[in-house]
Amino acid sequence: MIWAVAQANVALVKYWGRAPGPGHQPAGTSVSLTLDGLASAARVEERPAGGESRAAWAPPGPVTDLTRFVEGARAELGIARPLDVLVTSNFPVAAGLASSASAYAALTTALAALAAEPLPAGRLAALARHGSGSACRSMFGGFVQWRPGEDSGAVTQLAGPEHWPLAVLVAVTGTGPKRVPSREGMHRTRATSPFFDAWLTAGEADLAAVRKAVRSRDLPALGTAAERNALRMHATALGADPPLLYWEPATVAVIREVWRLREDGVPAYFTIDAGPQVKVLCEPADRQRVERALGGVPGVSHVLRSRPGGAPCVLATPPAWAAPALLDGSPADERT
Ligand code: DP6
Repeated sequence: MIWAVAQANVALVKYWGRAPGPGHQPAGTSVSLTLDGLASAARVEERPAGGESRAAWAPPGPVTDLTRFVEGARAELGIARPLDVLVTSNFPVAAGLASSASAYAALTTALAALAAEPLPAGRLAALARHGSGSACRSMFGGFVQWRPGEDSGAVTQLAGPEHWPLAVLVAVTGTGPKRVPSREGMHRTRATSPFFDAWLTAGEADLAAVRKAVRSRDLPALGTAAERNALRMHATALGADPPLLYWEPATVAVIREVWRLREDGVPAYFTIDAGPQVKVLCEPADRQRVERALGGVPGVSHVLRSRPGGAPCVLATPPAWAAPALLDGSPADERT
C-alpha cells in the first residue's frame, strides 16, 4: 500500500481554455504558486490480477474520472495489477480551491511509485495533466509554469518555495460545489465568449510581468499582474453564453477590502479561480493585519493561511488529517 500527498496551487496567470484537439493542451501559458498546507492524499493498493481498478473520493466527493485516469496511468506506467484507490483532501473539494489539482498530483505521485521504472518529473506532470490540467503544476513546488506542448519541458519550476516567503491567505466565502465545473466553464467560454481571443492575447503580457516579478521578488508587480489576469479571466467568462459568474457577494466584498488595504498602504493583492474564494498575497509581516481584515468581511466564513509549498511526496503512513478517511479499509467502490 502506498500513500502520497500533494498540495493545491493558485494560478497567478490563469489556464482558462483548452486548445482544440486531443491531449488536454492549454490554449495559453499559465503560472501558479503551490500552496503549503492545502493538501490531498491518495492511497493506492494493488488488487489481485484480473478485473478493473476501483477509485473513489473519501468521503464520497465530486463525480470525476478518477477510475478512467487510474486505468490510463496504469497502461502508461506499466502497472500490471488493478488498483484500489482512495483520494481525500483537507479542504473543501470542488469549490474553486484546486482540489482536483492536488488530488490528481497526489494520485500520480502514488502511481509513479508503483511504476515498472522511474519516470522524470516532466513526464509525470504530463500524466497528471490528463486528470486535471492544473494538476500538472502541483507536481512541482513553488512557482510553476505550464506552457502548451507534449514535451517533458512543458511544465517547469520557475522558482522553489524558499525563493520567496510570501504569505497567502484564502478568504473562504462558500464551501458548496461550484455551479459550473472548470472544464465545462472554460469550454463554454472558448465556444461562446467574444472576448476569448483577446483574453489569450492579453495573457502574454501578464505572463511576462509575472515571470519578471517572481525573478525579482517584486510583490507590487506580481500582485498587479495577477489581479489584472484574474479579473480578465472572469470578465471573459462573464461574456460566455449563458454567462459564467463564479462570485458571491462576499467575493466582491473581499476584493473591495483588499483595495482598501492597499489605499491604507498595505501591499496586498488578490486572485480568484473558478469559485467564490479569494486568495490574497501579502508580505509575511502584514499577514496578521490582512488576515484580520479579511476575516471581518461579512460572508467570509474563515481564512486559511498558506505560503509557498513544496513538491508532492510518497509517505510510509497517511498524514494525520487523512488517516480517518484513508485507513478505513472498505473497498473504494462501496463508497461511490
Ligand atoms: C480557474 O485544471 O480544474 O483554476 O483541466 O478541465 O481539469 P481541467 O480544469 P482545471 O482548471 C483550472 C482553472 C482555474 C485556473 C488555473 O488553475 O490556472
